[in-house]
Amino acid sequence: MTIKALVFDAYGTLYDVQSVAAITDEAYPGYGEIITQVWRLKQLEYTWLRSLMRQYEDFSVITRDSLAYTLRCLGLKNDAAVFARIMDKYVHLDLYPDAQAALAAMKDRKLAILSNGSTDMLNTLVRNSGLDRVLDATISIDSRRIFKPSPEAYALIEATLGIAPADVLFVSSNPFDACGAKAYGLRVAWIERVTTEAMAQSFTRSDLLPPLTMFKVIRMQMDELGFEPDYRINNLADLPGLLASLSP
Ligand code: LAC
Repeated sequence: MTIKALVFDAYGTLYDVQSVAAITDEAYPGYGEIITQVWRLKQLEYTWLRSLMRQYEDFSVITRDSLAYTLRCLGLKNDAAVFARIMDKYVHLDLYPDAQAALAAMKDRKLAILSNGSTDMLNTLVRNSGLDRVLDATISIDSRRIFKPSPEAYALIEATLGIAPADVLFVSSNPFDACGAKAYGLRVAWIERVTTEAMAQSFTRSDLLPPLTMFKVIRMQMDELGFEPDYRINNLADLPGLLASLSP
């Protein structure tokens, strides 16, 4: 089996969307975690709603709208300068600590991003983090005006790289994205950063459901959609080893 390209989801897979919490908590002390989780949950929800409604707005608009929603529903003052500072973190998100090394270890293959992010915000993020030096392509779904998990979004991989879906390993930590890519026909590695066992343990500690636990329950466990990833790994650092075990 040949894997000619590795194509990564951006937000939540290479880049840690939780890293906005430092900025949100500085802006609204004590509210950092709840803002971070509601914002991300709403952001993803808006991509699906707008795709179904056929009312496309790009991901930068959706990211702003979902932050505005979050601040409003938590009863927080929406100050333009503070809002801009929080939004700016989205083009300076932290890379997962193992991302650079994992990508460097696989640089003999084609490496790309396929993301819901708009062209501008993705290119800026990739440049700010230095990944422009290792990636062969950064593909935004912008040109198709429909978000993942639409098949039209995944079709951009072959259209851009000229590599058939069966020769691509798509890597995502987002369960909906892993299922969507698999349904489309890509080979899929799902990064299971929060295992079922870890999830179960977090409940015995407390009856309360902190916002981050809520996020893990809703957005980090594999969906029941009838599609299973080909491989389950726990972090990006596991990828080079997975590839080595697949090589003939
Ligand atoms: C992306 C979202 C799904 O990067 O995280 O496409």
